[in-house]
Amino acid sequence: MNVLDIMRTGPVIPVIVIDRLEDAVPLARALVAGGVRVLEVTLRTPVALKAIEAIANEVEGAITGVGTITQARDFDSALKAGALFGVSPGLTPELIAAAKDSALPLLPGVMTPSDVIAARAGGFTELKLFPAQQAGGVGMLKALGGPFPELRFCPTGGISAATAPEFLALPNVACVGGSWLTPASAVAARDWGRITALARETAGLSNTAD
Ligand code: 3PG
Repeated sequence: MNVLDIMRTGPVIPVIVIDRLEDAVPLARALVAGGVRVLEVTLRTPVALKAIEAIANEVEGAITGVGTITQARDFDSALKAGALFGVSPGLTPELIAAAKDSALPLLPGVMTPSDVIAARAGGFTELKLFPAQQAGGVGMLKALGGPFPELRFCPTGGISAATAPEFLALPNVACVGGSWLTPASAVAARDWGRITALARETAGLSNTAD
């Protein structure tokens, strides 16, 4: 799958933080049971790569990716863990070079028009707008659609169940990301039923981007 296929499969990508390795598989199963298959597990905890490996090996139907890629070496680690895609909060020449050398499809982060121009020059046409709400939200994405109509975005950061539909209605938004499907309180309590219920709430959401 390429990045656009993965984004369209969303169209909501949960941003997941795993603190306890034993939570990885049940949490991923809870999301998949609710119809959310594209999962971004962030490299923010010591167990993140092991969590990705466990989900990739054990959770049928999951399309597992690595989030918070910030260094070239993350590409290899992600592939070894079985990740099918990567997401970065920003983009640097080092990351562009690493992405070109790697089989891991990358959804890179941008926040400004200059970031967008640099990412497009690096060969990327699917971009994560991060942090989306703080960068201007729906108004920012409409404005970016003027000079960059061919680009597709995955806004992430500050989006909720209530605001996701406004983003997904934009012609340049292929998916949205966020942590609202995996609230820290539900994960801490291992309340997988709540996570499945939150995932199910996204069932009616679809993107309008082509
Ligand atoms: C992140 O990287 O943490 C994501 O952008 C999630 O942001 P959110 O918690 O505002 O959804």
